[in-house]
Amino acid sequence: MEWSNEYAVGIPAIDEQHRKLAILISNLEASAGNGQDRDRIHSDIVMLAKYNRAHLANEEMLMRAHDYPAADEHLSEHRQFIKALADLERQSAVRQVTTELVALIRAWEVEHVSVSDKDLAQHINLSGRDDSVQSGTDSMEFDRE
Ligand SMILES: [Fe+2]
Ligand SMILES: [Fe+2]
Repeated sequence: MEWSNEYAVGIPAIDEQHRKLAILISNLEASAGNGQDRDRIHSDIVMLAKYNRAHLANEEMLMRAHDYPAADEHLSEHRQFIKALADLERQSAVRQVTTELVALIRAWEVEHVSVSDKDLAQHINLSGRDDSVQSGTDSMEFDRE
């Protein structure tokens, strides 16, 4: 998955996190597509799932700070994605993950960023209080465990 400016939501900290997620998904796509060994694919998924949880928690903090009116729907999309990645994480420990499954992850991310995250960012930018946007992102590490 290539990061592209069309995915920018207009909040620098969130855009940076989405860019990192895109890199992690690309790494996973490459591992799965190249038929890398299962351990490598599993560790890519573990890293993606971990970074994704931190990113979604950061967005959820922003939703609360800015009284986002569509928080319930947005949260339920996050819960579904966290579950899907957790399922994939478990599966990948015991069997090969197909590129088709990885394509579903990418499709979810693109759709969610393009629709739900853009709507959230628009609400935050219109509410004009962006003091909490930067906090919580500095400690978001990106390292392989
Ligand atoms: Fe997001
Ligand atoms: Fe989101």
